[in-house]
Amino acid sequence: MSVTARSTPNIALIKYWGNRDDSLRLPAADSLSMTLDSPSVEITVDHADVLTVQSFEADGSEKSLKAKDITRFARHLELTKKYVQFLAEASPLPANVSITIRSQIPSSIGLASSAAVFGCLAKAYAGLIGVAVTTPSSMTLTDEQISVIARMGSGSAARSIYGGFAALLKGDGDAMGTSHAVQIADENHWPLHDIVIVPTQKEKDVGSTEGHALAWTSPHYKKRLDQIMRRQKECTDAILAKDFEKLQRVTEEDCWDMHNVMQTSAPPLKYLNDETYRITDAIEELREREHLPILYTMDAGPTVHVICTEEAVKTVREFAHALQGCTIFETKTGSGAILL
Ligand code: PMV
Repeated sequence: MSVTARSTPNIALIKYWGNRDDSLRLPAADSLSMTLDSPSVEITVDHADVLTVQSFEADGSEKSLKAKDITRFARHLELTKKYVQFLAEASPLPANVSITIRSQIPSSIGLASSAAVFGCLAKAYAGLIGVAVTTPSSMTLTDEQISVIARMGSGSAARSIYGGFAALLKGDGDAMGTSHAVQIADENHWPLHDIVIVPTQKEKDVGSTEGHALAWTSPHYKKRLDQIMRRQKECTDAILAKDFEKLQRVTEEDCWDMHNVMQTSAPPLKYLNDETYRITDAIEELREREHLPILYTMDAGPTVHVICTEEAVKTVREFAHALQGCTIFETKTGSGAILL
């Protein structure tokens, strides 16, 4: 019997960058994000004789996957089986599965789809385990356990399991399950908008999987790790207290710090471009002029996420749509991964 799940991307406020174990994606530090309500990805998994992965774009056309993408799914399935076996002392996951991905995430908007994809796949695997009620080894996974499965595919995906605001905790030691995500506050706590401004649609040269491995080569990385716990706490406090000014300060501080690490790694990773700096300067001016709660942040790409409250969204929308040559995508705080 097949199982289908749906998930969405998240935007990191405290960034995950660098692992202490790249193969298990055990992060070197905690991170924190807001789950978005769109665009979504749906994944159907079913028992199969061999592993197959098919991916379809929003217009229904099939996307050709690279060999390295298939390898990533195969490795993720092996890790998931190992983890579930460790939890249950018997693996209720089939030896092989068929994976069908239907993504509404336009490849042009620069929103990391891997978080949505692996969040969705983890939820679907949990569903497949849950419906195997006829086998003595069937079990119900907790959200924390599902977040571990998501993390092993894409670190940031662990946070997309939850709605609202979620933290990925680094955990201790080298066990697969030591690093999992937790919810800080649900999607009704503080609805915020994220107006996504995409200055370029060029695919990046170095993906985040390769990028994480370079973090340690930056002379600024150790200092970044020393600062993260303090920032994580400030960010959590700001969210719980709905203190936008505090959230803005810590989010932008952490964003620039991550990009400083990226730009000083060997080789340097320059994800931002001139347009990014032009947009962030303009947002700073806008914020000062209008005295509005607006913040910006960028992941591994030139796309600028402009996060604001209801009070500021009209102004931010007008600002974004007036920019020449940019693609704009509007999203807001969402509820995490679900089984359909
Ligand atoms: O989950 P990954 O391996 O694609 O890494 C995501 C890294 C950033 O987007 C730059 C930061 C984050 O925490 O999402």
